[in-house]
Amino acid sequence: MKIDTTRAVITGGVSGLGLAVAQHLVAAGGKVALFDVNDDKGATAVAELGESNARFFRTDVTDEAQVEANLAAAKDFMGGLNAAINCAGILGAAACWAARHRCRCSSSRPPSWSTWSAASMSPRPRPT
Ligand SMILES: NC(=O)c1ccc[n+]([C@@H]2O[C@H](COP(=O)([O-])OP(=O)(O)OC[C@H]3O[C@@H](n4cnc5c(N)ncnc54)[C@H](O)[C@@H]3O)[C@@H](O)[C@H]2O)c1
Repeated sequence: MKIDTTRAVITGGVSGLGLAVAQHLVAAGGKVALFDVNDDKGATAVAELGESNARFFRTDVTDEAQVEANLAAAKDFMGGLNAAINCAGILGAAACWAARHRCRCSSSRPPSWSTWSAASMSPRPRPT
């Protein structure tokens, strides 16, 4: 893979794993489009990476229409699109908790971090 020709959309790209990938790609000559919901971090990331290498697109990845529209805009900005890096932190404690306990979550709200931490340290409930 020639990283200098990489034109990547990175979801969750303004923080953590996504930002680290963006920094790596840009340092090697690639271009990135950062899809995220955090405007402040988006501005900071673009300032760090350079406006000709990176652009922030406010995108909630759970909104298909937003993603579709911004993919087209990202492709225009980068002069192509050949990679997608998915790091948006949408699989939070609820998914982990449900997977661990092999159950379906009836609530759309994830449990609080303390609930998740407590659950992860507790023995798995016996099947009924
Ligand atoms: N950091 C790790 O070691 C690690 C290990 C395994 C799995 N993960 C998972 O990888 C993902 C990213 O981890 P991270 O440490 O980079 O987290 P992070 O919180 O630093 O970054 C996640 C980014 O996703 C963005 N985001 C959240 N909801 C969004 C949405 N609906 N649309 C677009 N962007 C959204 C946030 O604004 C944030 O910038 C998480 O789901 C995490 O659970 C992380």
